[in-house]
Amino acid sequence: MHRLFTLASLSGLLRIAQTLTLNVATSGGNASSPILYGLLFEDVYHSGDGGLYSELIQNRAFQGTVVNTNDGAAVPPFQTLQYWHTSGSDTLNLDNEAPLLTSALPWQMRVDVAEGATGNTGFWNEGYWGMNITTATRYAANFYLRGAYKGDILCAFWSNTTNSMLGSTTFTVDQTEADGWVPYAQTFTTTDSAVDEKNTFHLDFDGASTAGTSLRFQMISVFQQTYQNSNNGLRIDLAQAVNEIGGKYLRMPGGNNLEGLSAPYQWKWNATIGPIIDRPGRPGTWGYVNTDGLGLLEMMQWCLDMGLETILAVWDGEYLNGGILSEADLQFYVDDALNELEFLLGPSTSTYGALRASLGYPDPFTINYVEIGNEDFLNGGIPSYIDYRFNMFYTAIKNAYPDMKIISSIWVGYFSTPPPVGVIQDLHDYLSVDDMVSKFNGYDNSDRSWPVLVGEYAAIYDAEHVSPNQLDNPTLQSATSEAIYFLGLERNADFIVGISHGALIKSLHDEPDNVAMMKHTPNEIVRSYSYYVAKLFATNYGSETVAVTGDQDYGPLYWAATKNDAGTYFVKVVNYDGAAETSVTVVIPGKTNAGTLITVSGPGTYATNVLGDVTSVWTETAVANEAGRYTFTLSGSYICAVLVA
Ligand SMILES: *[C@@H]1O[C@H](CO)[C@@H](O)[C@H](O)[C@H]1NC(C)=O
Ligand SMILES: *[C@@H]1O[C@H](CO)[C@@H](O)[C@H](O)[C@H]1NC(C)=O
Ligand SMILES: *[C@@H]1O[C@H](CO)[C@@H](O)[C@H](O)[C@H]1NC(C)=O
Ligand SMILES: *[C@@H]1O[C@H](CO)[C@@H](O)[C@H](O)[C@H]1NC(C)=O
Repeated sequence: MHRLFTLASLSGLLRIAQTLTLNVATSGGNASSPILYGLLFEDVYHSGDGGLYSELIQNRAFQGTVVNTNDGAAVPPFQTLQYWHTSGSDTLNLDNEAPLLTSALPWQMRVDVAEGATGNTGFWNEGYWGMNITTATRYAANFYLRGAYKGDILCAFWSNTTNSMLGSTTFTVDQTEADGWVPYAQTFTTTDSAVDEKNTFHLDFDGASTAGTSLRFQMISVFQQTYQNSNNGLRIDLAQAVNEIGGKYLRMPGGNNLEGLSAPYQWKWNATIGPIIDRPGRPGTWGYVNTDGLGLLEMMQWCLDMGLETILAVWDGEYLNGGILSEADLQFYVDDALNELEFLLGPSTSTYGALRASLGYPDPFTINYVEIGNEDFLNGGIPSYIDYRFNMFYTAIKNAYPDMKIISSIWVGYFSTPPPVGVIQDLHDYLSVDDMVSKFNGYDNSDRSWPVLVGEYAAIYDAEHVSPNQLDNPTLQSATSEAIYFLGLERNADFIVGISHGALIKSLHDEPDNVAMMKHTPNEIVRSYSYYVAKLFATNYGSETVAVTGDQDYGPLYWAATKNDAGTYFVKVVNYDGAAETSVTVVIPGKTNAGTLITVSGPGTYATNVLGDVTSVWTETAVANEAGRYTFTLSGSYICAVLVA
């Protein structure tokens, strides 16, 4: 017992300090993927609708809200008036009486005003669990009205908390039933900023002049001003936070949301383009109806606005419930994928290129990567994928676009005959923290013939959260384990294409208890530890790997380095459960400039960032250069650091 005690205190002492010397080579590296750090977007837990998509009204076109599932299969959404409420002497009803506004939107809201009504009457919407109302941005209110009315319609934001009007805009209406559907649109600013997110949007009209009659409303939409003022675009604060990560690609539109829960609910590109009144929406994979407002062109615009390479996934005949199309039935969808590619890449003289041009994009986009499906290893997908599904898409796309890089959604080892050399394999890694760390050298001996995209990753289990009980939030430890995985990719950047977190954005309302890079409420964002570690790595990354020789074996300290064309080095060091203090010396021969040390750490192994309590610490400090040597101290037994020199 006594001896053990002595040993324990000795190892306790050893944990106080450790040293590391790294010798960085100045030549002999490999070109690294220019898009190593990227982003995945799919509409999951209101990352799009009610999140990044800047629409404030929930259930704006009565497309359904909740997705009803029956043994994993989606059943058609029940249209409801959820999130809408009457505010006077009227009743709200779903109505499908012709003429419809569009065939895509078969249900409208009929507002029946009571006989003998007086004063104002109308209705209001809850938003996506509130709304962000601020004088700092502009708002755009839009709706379509059918029915006889001469008078004003007042659209206004109200605060629940202060019970006061925050701002409004008035529409002057003079129409008859014979006028059919009449569009109304106005932009406005508010007079007050809300004290919190508990705000609602109200639409009021004169009760006396409509008493005993009905008015019909459709596509009642209020946009908060968007990122870079894009039409039908992105919520500013979330888009800025996404941009800040420094990712270089956008993998979209999924994710399981591409697949659809069951037939016929896969993501359909041509149902997500054009005027929003022509988009039917669909039951999404994650429990709610997608408006598809954040559609294909909006995602392409997002790529343009942030300079992102597009990794486009096409639906390949498997539904998430394991429904798989036969070879005979699949050809239609192969052709459909080619139509989608022509829409994006074809000249404006081609059929689908002309459609794109008509929607405001005369110039073709650039797409270099197409992924065939998503996670086709799930639910019995492998046999048909390797038998005909992959090949049908591969051959058709390569015939039309010989330079296109094609991504398999499954590991190439599953194929009985390997796919052509150069096919990229998308490997998803949702791992425990220990398994993340063990991936440090996981790609060292991989066959270079089939590059790897880690299209989704996240450390989701730790010592206290063992499968299936996932971490509530990334912790300092889990994010640091992800950093070690990144180092392993940087060391193998000659054949690794990229990596993106499996959950870029989630609504805090939907998912308080699961990892994501960011969680949002209507007016706030929480950036997690994973967010900051990814940002640290993505924004400090060169175009070439460089060899680094350490004076010890890997663990608990891990490292890797890259440099860019301008000769700037990015030397990354991660301490994973090592000493509380690490003295590091980095030697870069011939270097004379001072460096900057950037670190991410936190107050404890299981520290997290939650709303109102952000504990992660980001530091940037100057490091002197002493004859090509940079010496600095890392504090914390879990810490991620980059020396930029
Ligand atoms: C605002 O109050 C109404 C009840 O008047 C409620 O239904 C709604 O959920 C509240 N909104 C928020 C964000 O709390
Ligand atoms: C989309 O394209 C498919 C296949 O060509 C077609 O059947 C469908 O009607 C189109 N949908 C819309 C909304 O245009
Ligand atoms: C939401 O409101 C907050 C203030 O409550 C503001 O800081 C934030 O930037 C707003 N978000 C948007 C998209 O304007
Ligand atoms: C370059 O790639 C090869 C494998 O192709 C690898 O053995 C070598 O370590 C890499 N060098 C650097 C500096 O990353």
